[in-house]
Amino acid sequence: MLSRISNLTFKKQLKHLAKISFQTRYASTATETNKADKRTIAITAVAAATVAGGIGYYVYANPVHANLADEGLHPPAYPWSHKPIWATFDHASIRRGYQVYKEVCSTCHSLERLAWRNFVGVSHTLDEAKAMAEEVEYTDGPDDTGEYFQRPGKLSDYLPRPYPNEEAARAANAGALPPDLSLMIKARHGGCDYVFSLLTGYVDPPAGVEIREGLHYNPYFPGGAIGMARVLYDGLVEYEDGTPATTSQMAKDVVTFLNWAAEPEHDERKKMGLKAITILSVMFILSIYLKRYKWTVLKSRKIV
Ligand code: HEC
Repeated sequence: MLSRISNLTFKKQLKHLAKISFQTRYASTATETNKADKRTIAITAVAAATVAGGIGYYVYANPVHANLADEGLHPPAYPWSHKPIWATFDHASIRRGYQVYKEVCSTCHSLERLAWRNFVGVSHTLDEAKAMAEEVEYTDGPDDTGEYFQRPGKLSDYLPRPYPNEEAARAANAGALPPDLSLMIKARHGGCDYVFSLLTGYVDPPAGVEIREGLHYNPYFPGGAIGMARVLYDGLVEYEDGTPATTSQMAKDVVTFLNWAAEPEHDERKKMGLKAITILSVMFILSIYLKRYKWTVLKSRKIV
């Protein structure tokens, strides 16, 4: 009897304890949610302030884009044959473009990241690339006697630079530095469209626009006054494949060539991408089929 009573009181006590612990637990979670709420509010406030500050700064730093000449005319989007994701470069165009680079641009612009070996299998054969390299004299050494010597180029040599250093380049171009063209297509907003428009866009300056001596007017160049004169004129080069060498044809070819120079992995990248997408989509469809197959037993089951 006694044990039963004590047992009862013990149960009561237990219940009481449980109640208290529940209350305290509930209370503690309540304060925790409060804390979490405060933290969320603080984070939101900081984020909102940052965004507002960013927008404020942007508006402050870029008042109105009223002066088109400061940013250059926006180039139109041209239908480059290598633009679609399934398209590779037009390699005949790369070859013609190299001819334009060599005969026109290479007098002022370097192409430092291209070696003769890069041409092999892309625009030229092995023998042609070797012959092109051998036309150039490179300084090598030192030899056994400590002397530097001249030797004909090899496939592993990089394309020669027109000027020995930046100072010489500036001195020959009225103070303007002809930039290296290796990554030019990637380095400029608008890429191919911009460089094409730049090469073909030389016009007389509009009334009221004064161009300093030694500069030339080009609406696509930010600021409008560029140190490079118009270089492409109809019939300037004679293409070996008989393509008529109009200004726009040469500009298109040299831009395709420069795009390849900046992105030599382009063709391979697109081929790999297409393969990956094809394989993954086949596997995706298979996985849907497999999932439905495995689940049909469960999905069509009737519980009576
Ligand atoms: C007579 C020398 C000369 C020749 C030839 C020449 N350029 Fe230039 N090029 C320059 C100079 C100088 C600049 C720098 C202009 C400046 O910063 O104002 C320049 C700048 C450029 C730029 C950069 C423009 C920019 O947005 O900064 C590109 C692209 C370019 N040239 C492409 C070519 C191509 C392609 C050819 C061949 C078809 C060529 N150039 C031939 C002298 C030349």
